[in-house]
Amino acid sequence: MAALFTLRAAREDDRRYLDSYTYREGMDYLPSLERVTVAVNADDEPVGFIRISLGRAGVARVNPIVVHESWRGYGVGRALIDEAQDAYGELRLVSRGSSKAFYDALGFEPCAWDLIESDVIEDCDGCPLFDECEPCPMRRADRS
Ligand SMILES: CC(C)(COP(=O)(O)OP(=O)(O)OC[C@H]1O[C@@H](n2cnc3c(N)ncnc32)[C@H](O)[C@@H]1OP(=O)(O)O)[C@@H](O)C(=O)NCCC(=O)NCCS
Repeated sequence: MAALFTLRAAREDDRRYLDSYTYREGMDYLPSLERVTVAVNADDEPVGFIRISLGRAGVARVNPIVVHESWRGYGVGRALIDEAQDAYGELRLVSRGSSKAFYDALGFEPCAWDLIESDVIEDCDGCPLFDECEPCPMRRADRS
């Protein structure tokens, strides 16, 4: 049986999909498509994506990962995370409370806020939705 989805580097013609996915999640538009990987369906349409940003020490941050609602629960998020870990090594991120169970399932562990670079923390500091969102700094050193 053919795979449900495959992964590839994002291209400019993916933008309209990615912009709609970030918009629906209330996230910022992606500043560039550098280190953005998309999961695509059989028609080569993105059904989810991950963007990795590199901190000053070169540690990779997931910022962000989104899977279209109709594709959730099919292993797309896990595949995007695992491929990023293979490419970049340790992954760190700030999880929304609503997605913490996903990261728990993938073997991420809560970590200290000071392991997360300040520009990410500034996104949370002073945010009116902080209490509702319950952001949690997390890391995964090795693929589990
Ligand atoms: C979080 C998100 C990326 C998960 O993507 P997904 O493709 O549905 O995840 P997968 O199907 O690969 O799931 C991987 C594992 O996580 C578990 N999981 C995923 N979402 C879960 C949830 N909401 N609650 C509990 N477990 C969850 C799955 O059961 C699966 O576990 P298993 O492999 O042991 O069976 C997706 O729900 C999403 O885009 N959410 C909105 C955007 C968002 O919050 N992004 C994170 C920003 S920090």
